Amino acid sequence: MQELNVTIPSIPSTSYPIQIACGTLCDLWDRLESKYPAHRKFVVTDANLVSAGHLNTLTKQQNIETFVIDPPGEISKHINTAIAIIEAMEKVFMGRDSVIVALGGGTVGDIAGFAAAIFKRGVKVVQIPTTTVSQADSSVGGKTGVDSTISKNAFGAFWQPDAVFIDVETLKTLDDTQYRAGLVESVKHALIADSDYFEFFEQNMPAVLSRDMDILEKIAFRNCSIKASVVAEDPTEKNKRRILNYGHTIGHAVESASNFDLLHGQAVAIGIIGATIIEKHLGMGDDTRTARISKVLEELGMELTIPKNINKDTLTDLIKRDKKAVNKWPKFVLLQDIGQALCTDGQWAHNVTQQAVDAALDQLY
Ligand SMILES: NC(=O)c1ccc[n+]([C@@H]2O[C@H](COP(=O)([O-])OP(=O)(O)OC[C@H]3O[C@@H](n4cnc5c(N)ncnc54)[C@H](O)[C@@H]3O)[C@@H](O)[C@H]2O)c1
Repeated sequence: MQELNVTIPSIPSTSYPIQIACGTLCDLWDRLESKYPAHRKFVVTDANLVSAGHLNTLTKQQNIETFVIDPPGEISKHINTAIAIIEAMEKVFMGRDSVIVALGGGTVGDIAGFAAAIFKRGVKVVQIPTTTVSQADSSVGGKTGVDSTISKNAFGAFWQPDAVFIDVETLKTLDDTQYRAGLVESVKHALIADSDYFEFFEQNMPAVLSRDMDILEKIAFRNCSIKASVVAEDPTEKNKRRILNYGHTIGHAVESASNFDLLHGQAVAIGIIGATIIEKHLGMGDDTRTARISKVLEELGMELTIPKNINKDTLTDLIKRDKKAVNKWPKFVLLQDIGQALCTDGQWAHNVTQQAVDAALDQLY
């Protein structure tokens, strides 16, 4: 078992462990009982985690208060689910001494984290992530929220977890498309912060795809180290945390324009290639860099072109509506090199002309 600690200097008293291991879900409940002897636990999970057997493995069929999100996935990530969780907790007299235990992917983690942030002005949440996205990204860093009918994560709060427990063995039951697309966030971490980690993907892709457990532990550890250090420096995304959005400006636009037919990771893979084209246009990248990144993403099974049914004007419009846009145009995170996000004059997001983005979109079709 490996352990990391996230400490956020600007939020005194925030410090939480991330434990990474394989095959530990079956012992976790006892550890939660000894870590929180005076707290009542309330599990939030989803129907797929129940049918894959992970809820039973965690709770050992004890009679524990549980809310099962059904249907699973983004379709349930709305305010009514958060309300239903909170009311279910009230019905069983949960108080401020509650710990919400979120067992699932990013959807479960974001909803349960948000419910924890607002239930009786805030209770503890423990994250037990079970997807490649949540083990790499969403379980660490404290972004929680649910979607409105108009936009993603419209209701949200920064609410740091009290602990994160990663059991990479849970990934064995994850659908292959989800598994592969989720790994794009890991490649993104490598690109923004760690060239050795990128080379690790170049050298170990067969083992990554075959879900070798040792490899998955290494990946989880590198991801959490990178995310934890960025979040510690900039917990509320004023500046450096924006590097975690590498590839996401074009990626989010492609994801929305596909009406979410494309998974987030699939869209971000296209966005990453878009960013490398912009870098080349600005004289920072070269064909070798783009080729190396494309190869790794293609080995993950990602299509690196924008689907033909997506209109370019729609994409430009969506980019203008990016939630970080100022005067209808967002700044872009760029790479100085593989493993190093570009920082100029202390800023981690950069002005890129609409013309340069336009040219990149053209090349992506
Ligand atoms: N908070 C953050 O910082 C952050 C970061 C990235 C993404 N997110 C959010 O995360 C969400 C996406 O998360 P996700 O990709 O994990 O999707 P998800 O949670 O919807 O899970 C994908 C599917 O896999 C199923 N599943 C989960 N774990 C499983 C397992 N071990 N075995 C079998 N099936 C399993 C789920 O039931 C679901 O059907 C989005 O809402 C996104 O906005 C948040």
